[in-house]
Amino acid sequence: MSIAAAEIFVRIANNSVSTSGQFTVALAGGSTPRLLYKLLATDKFRTRIDWKRVFFFFGDERNVPPDFEQSNFRMAYETLFAPLKTSESNIFRWHTEFGEPEEIASDYADRLGAFFGRTPRFDLTLLGLGSDGHTASLFPGTDAVNETAKMAIANWVEKLGEYRLTLTFPVINNSANVVFLVSGEEKAVVLKSVLEGELGPEPLPAQLVNPVNGELFWMVDEDAAGLLTSR
Ligand code: 6PG
Repeated sequence: MSIAAAEIFVRIANNSVSTSGQFTVALAGGSTPRLLYKLLATDKFRTRIDWKRVFFFFGDERNVPPDFEQSNFRMAYETLFAPLKTSESNIFRWHTEFGEPEEIASDYADRLGAFFGRTPRFDLTLLGLGSDGHTASLFPGTDAVNETAKMAIANWVEKLGEYRLTLTFPVINNSANVVFLVSGEEKAVVLKSVLEGELGPEPLPAQLVNPVNGELFWMVDEDAAGLLTSR
């Protein structure tokens, strides 16, 4: 799955660079993307992308400093940025060391606006899928799921007892390409609900990912796909 995802990453990156001279990608956090990021930094893939034209953002972040174990930035730094020796000017992480969650989110929204000049349109947004149907840090029943104005928001997640920082659906669904990465038997039930379940009165957040003018790819492994009726 990660090799297939790396091939898609390279294809989209090179298409974006040849079309617009740059490639903007919103990285996913959690554990699933680790292998993809590590693969991209190997000689098999690293040499196929002009990395100085790649600008990295994060679909969401934990409300912790960038050197904490839980930090999505730290995971990407260890697996991708450090091996690639990515320049800091190509990385737009959430400044989680500054102030309150709301300030961190509005700072990130400002920086997104400054970079994109309008609603961001990522060439690629990578997303994971939580067993409860969340994606990025858009958790079921949380305010951020219904946010239609702000691009980036501090989202109180009661079940975690903490704030998470996340892009909102107006940004995610404005992406040119969205790739979900879903691996493992523990995701089989939720993946079936997302892909084959009804859009109930309270849809799972991952069911609301639908690029308005872009492509949506689901990269899933056999274990995660085990309950799907159609492949
Ligand atoms: C995060 C991610 C989150 C993640 C899912 C799946 O910050 O943790 O943005 O949405 O993608 O929780 O996580 P795993 O890949 O670890 O299963």
